Amino acid sequence: MKQSSLSYLYKSITSTTAVAQERLPTNTTTHNHPVHRWFNFIAGFSPEFVSNCIQTLPNYRNLALLDPFTGCGTTQVEGLFHGMNVVGYEPHPIFFKIANAKTQMRSKNLGEIEAIIHHGLRNPVDSKILGEKPYEFLAKLFSPDTLSRLVGARIAIQNSPYAIDDLAFLVLSKVLDNASHSQTDGIYKAPTSIKRSHDVEDALLCITKMIADDREYIGSRSTSNCKIVPTSSENMSDVQSESIDIIITSPPYINNFDYAEMTRMYLYFWGIANTWGEITDLVRAKLILNTTTALKGHKEIQIQDRYRNRLPDSIQRDLLPIVEKLRLARKIKAGKKEYDFLIYPYFSQMMSVIRECRRTLKSGGTFHMMVADAALYGTHIPAPQILAQILLDCGFANVRCDQVRKRGHRWTLDKREGSEIGLGEYHIQARRF
Ligand SMILES: C[S@@+](CC[C@H](N)C(=O)[O-])C[C@H]1O[C@@H](n2cnc3c(N)ncnc32)[C@H](O)[C@@H]1O
Repeated sequence: MKQSSLSYLYKSITSTTAVAQERLPTNTTTHNHPVHRWFNFIAGFSPEFVSNCIQTLPNYRNLALLDPFTGCGTTQVEGLFHGMNVVGYEPHPIFFKIANAKTQMRSKNLGEIEAIIHHGLRNPVDSKILGEKPYEFLAKLFSPDTLSRLVGARIAIQNSPYAIDDLAFLVLSKVLDNASHSQTDGIYKAPTSIKRSHDVEDALLCITKMIADDREYIGSRSTSNCKIVPTSSENMSDVQSESIDIIITSPPYINNFDYAEMTRMYLYFWGIANTWGEITDLVRAKLILNTTTALKGHKEIQIQDRYRNRLPDSIQRDLLPIVEKLRLARKIKAGKKEYDFLIYPYFSQMMSVIRECRRTLKSGGTFHMMVADAALYGTHIPAPQILAQILLDCGFANVRCDQVRKRGHRWTLDKREGSEIGLGEYHIQARRF
């Protein structure tokens, strides 16, 4: 039976999987999991983390699962595998389409999509049609011949009935990954780091075979529903109050990835943005503010005050000395980074999401969040503990915050001035009563 070649993949579908605790917050196990492996990124957590959280529920089938920070849809895919009804929010246009494609895992059109892309790859198009900045950037990631063929495939999709199809988008985006000779999934790597590139037709065959294999294995297993909303989860009015049984999520960390930078290749290739300024306006401005997100429009005193005043008094008292330290550091550090301006917006925006989480959870519903602390100019920002306090302030109970792994020692302590406290990733758990 064909299943034998794939059976190693399916261990996480309904059983808690033993995986080293340090790997739970990472995406390092996704290649072992069907559908998750179609498209993933370094900021994702593991399917095992999601599965473990789901299995704390005595009876999870047909229950409602929400992830307010969807990313590539790890929570949603795992929720579907567990027979749950899932909902998510994701304003980043690339991740929104990827998560949609993965959660519509059984849509039927793979053969046609493959044939259209294949035809396009054999009919190259002058890549200068991409526009000046996109061409300049993409020409560093692909050979001229490969780029023209990829553009041919994009045009073929856009002239076909699959012009806005999310699976076609995923397949060709994945071909881009494999055909690039630079790392494309990390922070600030592209276009300077080198990796092995694959022939475009081999790459296409490889991704479509993987998808077909996974679909064959899944068969009729997934019957539940998924909806992903392309807006910020600060307002989740599409989700009814007290309708959700469990929330499993991981927000942007205060000092971590630039989700726009790491997707620049796709944003330019697909013509979603034509300049870095457009990327900032169309993508970065919609995301929770962190060290990598544009501060434009958030620095004015009145706006900073508005963010601060939304926070409970006790949190304001905790944050004030941090903001003051960062303000002083900015004056004496060569980089003059305006970290002091992002503290109130980050926690205020996160509080809006947490309030919405409380509103949408049923009484007795559970909340799980994976999140990290940070050190900015040597000042420790205990984000998990502050978020745990915000949960309490928003009316959650049984709040706990456990370190799952240590992280960032080399990065934080060598390249930057570190805090004395080692950094880590934390699992925050809470219950709504
Ligand atoms: C840590 S990643 C989540 C990764 C996800 N758990 C996975 O495994 O793929 C955080 C995600 O939050 C998204 N995000 C940022 N701001 C948001 C907002 N205001 N509302 C909803 N999602 C947002 C980012 O685009 C990013 O995809």
